[in-house]
Amino acid sequence: MKRIAVLTSGGDAPGMNAAIRAVVRASSYYNIEVYGVERGYAGLIEDDMHMMSRRNVSDTIQRGGTILRTARCPEFNTYEGRKKAAESLADRNIDGLVVIGGDGSFRGALDFYKDFGVKTIGIPGTIDNDLGYTDRTIGFDTAVNTALNAINNLRDTMSSHDRVVIVQVMGRHSGEIALHAGIAGGAEVILVPEKPVDFDEVAAILNRGKAVGKTSGIVVLAEGACPLDDVMTELKARTGLSFRSTVLGYIQRGGSPTMADRVLASKLGIRAVELLKANKGGYVVGSKGDDVVEVEIEKALAIPPYFNEKLYEQAKMLSL
Ligand code: ADP
Ligand code: F6P
Repeated sequence: MKRIAVLTSGGDAPGMNAAIRAVVRASSYYNIEVYGVERGYAGLIEDDMHMMSRRNVSDTIQRGGTILRTARCPEFNTYEGRKKAAESLADRNIDGLVVIGGDGSFRGALDFYKDFGVKTIGIPGTIDNDLGYTDRTIGFDTAVNTALNAINNLRDTMSSHDRVVIVQVMGRHSGEIALHAGIAGGAEVILVPEKPVDFDEVAAILNRGKAVGKTSGIVVLAEGACPLDDVMTELKARTGLSFRSTVLGYIQRGGSPTMADRVLASKLGIRAVELLKANKGGYVVGSKGDDVVEVEIEKALAIPPYFNEKLYEQAKMLSL
């Protein structure tokens, strides 16, 4: 393997730049040329790529977002689109591709590998932490800490005004951000897509708190659990409490990556290059504890996202 390309795809995540940096620096270490593709699969189809050197990734490990930008590219879902992308790589004698993204990007990488034999390696870059084959995805730790900082600020003002805040966090169909930010933030209630929302139970928790003198509270709502307006309406109807709401939205997608995300991204970027150096393709890399693992893409995508039932129940215990 003498020449590879790297791209970022799908929703961006803090730490993607650290992964790009690791891919570029490890490639340089192993005397492999590396091209950076702009705007994910769209740039691949449009042949929008440029060679990258160690210097191109200087002063990037601490930056959120992705210096290669990202895109959602429906055309890559088509064989014709992937064919154009394969031609872009073939014209440059590139036969390895690192895809930094989420499950959708990995489905694209798998199709690309199967259709055209391009050796692809996926690095899990998404704040959702919704890939069952790996303990953590790059961006998750930073997003949870961003949400936690917001919850800390909300706790101050809610306690000043005897109010309960419903704070909605991202995660698409996953409750991972909500669960971890909720526990760390001392939330009274955490609502996740993995569990049915029982408004009577939630109201009972808040009313029980009021009975023992709790005059304010935090409800953390994962965006995929239930519409925010429904939560507000149902809880107002069941309690005499004063509510406000905040949607954290895209602030969870930016910011300087935490140590954990920078280290994870660096380890996974190196392993991705080492797999391509060994002429292995059709894999994704991930973490299991402190170890780096590699799993065939098809097998990885078949593993359902992990939901920590025990931690969810413990969160309830702590909120009483
Ligand atoms: P994420 O990677 O964060 O899950 P998306 O689901 O938007 O983000 O996927 C990112 C890109 O991956 C899509 O815009 C598309 O170009 C490509 N993609 C997603 N699913 C597939 C698929 N089943 N086949 C081919 N390409 C896909
Ligand atoms: O997948 C990451 C994510 O931030 C989800 O948590 C969120 O629901 C989605 O992307 C938002 O997608 P977009 O950036 O296309 O609006």
